Amino acid sequence: MAQVRPATALPAANDDRIALFDLQRQRARLDGEIKTRIDTVLAHGQFILGPEVTLLEERLARFAGAKNAIAVSSGRDALMIALMAMGVKAGDAVFVPAFTFAATAGAVASVGASPVFVDVDATSFNMDPAALEEAVVRVAAAGKLTPRAIMPVDLYGLPADYPAIQAVADRHGLTVLADAAQSFGGELGGRRAGALAPISATSFYPTKPLGCYGDGGAILTEDETLAESVRMIRSHGRTGTGDEATVLGLTGRLDTIQAAVLLAKLDVFDLELARRREIAARYDAALKDIVTVPTIPDGSESAYALYTIRVDKRDALKEALDAAGIGCGLFYRLALHQHPAFREFVEDGLPVSEQLTREVLSLPLHPDLTDPEVDRVIEAVLDASGA
Ligand SMILES: Cc1ncc(COP(=O)(O)O)c(C=O)c1O
Repeated sequence: MAQVRPATALPAANDDRIALFDLQRQRARLDGEIKTRIDTVLAHGQFILGPEVTLLEERLARFAGAKNAIAVSSGRDALMIALMAMGVKAGDAVFVPAFTFAATAGAVASVGASPVFVDVDATSFNMDPAALEEAVVRVAAAGKLTPRAIMPVDLYGLPADYPAIQAVADRHGLTVLADAAQSFGGELGGRRAGALAPISATSFYPTKPLGCYGDGGAILTEDETLAESVRMIRSHGRTGTGDEATVLGLTGRLDTIQAAVLLAKLDVFDLELARRREIAARYDAALKDIVTVPTIPDGSESAYALYTIRVDKRDALKEALDAAGIGCGLFYRLALHQHPAFREFVEDGLPVSEQLTREVLSLPLHPDLTDPEVDRVIEAVLDASGA
């Protein structure tokens, strides 16, 4: 078993429910390290762009194998700032998978561009490169929007098929921006999320594999010019600390206390990823003949932000797990085109995404889940499935 050092005292559980996420156990385990780092920030008082932010950016870039990491205020802001730095604007089409969190399309619409929904692959749940090619050709032929960028999502922590997606991008002169909000720590072909596309955005929302204690995110890129634009945009469009706004910007910085929390967590992140994968393997082995378990292609590693199964009678299984005290979640109950907020971008022909909304169920997975707890989840799934 991967050694995630246990907390000396776990917070008392008020019942024996197994939570989908449990941040308090991790907090108890890392309590001393986190408090020491936060105390340092309180003492020096540089709450915005303090030294911890610079150190975090260096360590994130090294971890991912990317040239630049720029820490920002959230995953959604990371996407939006990246789109602004790329010059994406009204009249542009940005191709996004239809099965993802609303923030993916929201970021595109927020810069005035139009998200174009692309169906996903039924096995990986990630953007289907063949459907992408068709969508780009269709939008170009219609002539109303200019195809401009592709935003694949690494759903549940599994990197999208970047080689195939980059090939489509190259054929049509588009830029790839990875929505790696769920996949920091994931890998493809020996490279880590954050270094799989020319520019990537990730999230440090508390329940993400690497999460802070508030909102946070980062942009990673090889491109120095884009990195410089991102630094300006996250800080009111200014160069450095000067007061002149060179470009349109926003309040998009990660605050120093969040950077301090992330530095403490980054020290144990590899161990936590190993524990996530160990738990996933335990679920796989026990459940693979009963439900559809995640498929991880050769050469890929998931960061297991979520462990998501597919099952026909999903709602009945969720009810049974709820009754057995097992926390589980529906990610996602709606495909993007089914959200009222995106009505103006609605399209037909997204059958895989629609089917997944009826069949997916995420089971508890976090690095502090114990083997007996994993076994209790497994037993509850087997019981509910009559196996
Ligand atoms: C795929 C995806 N994109 C974007 C985001 C937005 O990240 P944040 O919540 O940090 O703004 C999330 C977060 O849940 C996400 O899962």
